[in-house]
Amino acid sequence: MPTTSTLTRTSAPALPVSLDRVSRTFRDTANEPKPVLRDVSLEISPGEIVSLIGASGCGKSTLLRQIAGLDRPTGGQVRIDGTAIDGIDQRVAVAFQEPRLLPWRSLRQNVSLGLPKGTARVEGQARVGALLDLVHLGEAAALRPRQVSGGMAQRASLARALSRGPGVLVLDEPFGALDALTRLKMQDLLIEIHSAEPATIILVTHDVDEALYLSDRVVLLGVDADAPSAGAGIRSITSVPGSRPRDRGDARLAELRVELLDGLGVPSHHQPQPH
Ligand SMILES: Nc1ncnc2c1ncn2[C@@H]1O[C@H](COP(=O)(O)OP(=O)(O)OP(=O)(O)O)[C@@H](O)[C@H]1O
Ligand SMILES: [Mg+2]
Repeated sequence: MPTTSTLTRTSAPALPVSLDRVSRTFRDTANEPKPVLRDVSLEISPGEIVSLIGASGCGKSTLLRQIAGLDRPTGGQVRIDGTAIDGIDQRVAVAFQEPRLLPWRSLRQNVSLGLPKGTARVEGQARVGALLDLVHLGEAAALRPRQVSGGMAQRASLARALSRGPGVLVLDEPFGALDALTRLKMQDLLIEIHSAEPATIILVTHDVDEALYLSDRVVLLGVDADAPSAGAGIRSITSVPGSRPRDRGDARLAELRVELLDGLGVPSHHQPQPH
């Protein structure tokens, strides 16, 4: 088991994230402006878990890219701990739906790639070992990505993101490619990780149940029906009751699920069961 002191000594504290009227307009093939995000404002507390949901193509990944500094907003600003993001930022780590591991490197070497530059060798190896244990890959550290399951590869990808000791962890559909059972286990693992490494987590998911199980707040992104070409904004923010780990059968979550599905334009005929 990793010792908490090994992990906390090198990881940064969770940081607040401030989205201040973030807008992003692209150019379409005819070079016409195509607004994708418009005036997205949100204050995220240190250590909070926030899920972004919304229809495919509404701009969720685009918003994550602004937070991670992989793209720049055409309006507004993202601030982390009060400082504006301006390009790739050492305080933020990202993981995607695909694990994106280097195939010729072992899992241990892949995780080491996320360490901040200049990390002393002994300290880095101790941290990587502790993170591999945290994601239950201690025994598999020497294997190459093609020798492990999709779930294991995704756990290595999470460990690589954490190896940088991020104050903010940005996850774009991290469990989207996994089977249903592995996905549930990964959700529990993320909760474990969050207790051991309390970064602020911003997560995109298509799975409303996953959003409700994991998050403090669920943010629904979408366009305004009256101005659909103006770009997406925040349509609703749902605070999720109860502390983690939550009961997956909680009637309050079932009720919120109906509301969120409705917000996504998927009317649900399911009536929450009275207790
Ligand atoms: N670099 C780019 N240039 C032009 N248009 C872009 C660019 N990146 C994204 N877009 C457009 O922005 C819109 C939002 O894309 P984005 O990938 O953020 O959606 P999403 O909500 O993550 O969708 P999904 O749920 O399918 O992953 C899409 O219409 C997409 O074509
Ligand atoms: Mg996306």
